[in-house]
Amino acid sequence: MRILSIESSCDETGASVVEKKDGKIKVLSNIIATSSDMHASTGGIIPENAAREQIKAIIPVIVEATLQSKNLDNSDFQSDKKWSLARQILKDEIDAIAVTFGPGLIGSLIVGVETAKTLSYSLEKSLIPINHLLAHIYANYIDRDIDEIKFPFIGLIVSGGHTDLLCFKSHNDYKWLGGTRDDAAGEAIDKIGRMLDLPYPAGPDMEKRAKKVTAPEIRFQSPMIGSKDYDFSFSGLKAETMRFVKSNELNEDLKDQICYATQKAIFDVLVKKTLDALKEYGCNTLLIGGGVSANQTLMEQFKKNSDIKVLSPQIKYATDNAAMIGAYALVNGEEKSWKEVRSNPELYFA
Ligand code: KG4
Ligand code: ZN
Repeated sequence: MRILSIESSCDETGASVVEKKDGKIKVLSNIIATSSDMHASTGGIIPENAAREQIKAIIPVIVEATLQSKNLDNSDFQSDKKWSLARQILKDEIDAIAVTFGPGLIGSLIVGVETAKTLSYSLEKSLIPINHLLAHIYANYIDRDIDEIKFPFIGLIVSGGHTDLLCFKSHNDYKWLGGTRDDAAGEAIDKIGRMLDLPYPAGPDMEKRAKKVTAPEIRFQSPMIGSKDYDFSFSGLKAETMRFVKSNELNEDLKDQICYATQKAIFDVLVKKTLDALKEYGCNTLLIGGGVSANQTLMEQFKKNSDIKVLSPQIKYATDNAAMIGAYALVNGEEKSWKEVRSNPELYFA
């Protein structure tokens, strides 16, 4: 089965062609346009601007993903020819279209969902609506044998918008164990990064800076590390860091120290509660997803526990992308008519 998948929940516009063959998920193309640079100048995402950028990017990104899936070079064609060729490829070779229908920014989501519905209607293909959060976890199925991942497993989503822990007994039988009560882990990293004048999004730069620290000098509290639940809270850490930044003169070394202390405070609580969940629910497999899983220090902290199998996606499938939407669709998607699908910005876990 071959799928065109579309992701437009925030500031990335993604399209991908993904295939299931011999029990494996293969990505034939994965194109992403991002308006991240524009949001860097405002220090965060302005939803209206993100939606406008989605509109500009969506068709070119779909056309490019379609052509690349056949190893055709986009630059070989005149633009009107490109679209008719892409349309023909989609018509002849794609079995269904998958699209993120939530959660996310309403304006951004609508662009992807309505484009997918139009394609579904005009090409007469079924539509597979996908929960963006579950797709972050299912990014781990890419390039793996589907049956290699054994139930039950714990799923940890750590992204710019979400921090959630789930236990999966099967694809359709999962339980949400807890999540952030305020800021997500990535959001805290980005906001603290802004206090330090780091480029947006701050995760990669914070990781580089933290790695330079060999003798940690400061320490921030790990929020809720002692609470007997699976919830998180990162807004207090932001306030603590802000107080520290205001009462100290920043230089590059101190910024590195703050990055180290921030990561440690966030990662210690993520790792502790995830290990607790693995134990309580009798799981020895952990699937991590979301942009923060690109952080090697966090992954090393998990991988120290040799009795659990820790899976994380390749970096290009960890941050927002359409291949993970296709992966979920191929592993556990439900085909619908375009008439049944609507954007749902508030979507969470059923
Ligand atoms: O999953 P994602 O692309 O978007 C959402 O669905 O939210 O995650 C983006 C987040 C940003 O907060 C970014 O700072 C963080 O992932 N991130 C990282 C790293 N790379 C990206 N955080 C820590 N270390 C990294 N290397
Ligand atoms: Zn995401």
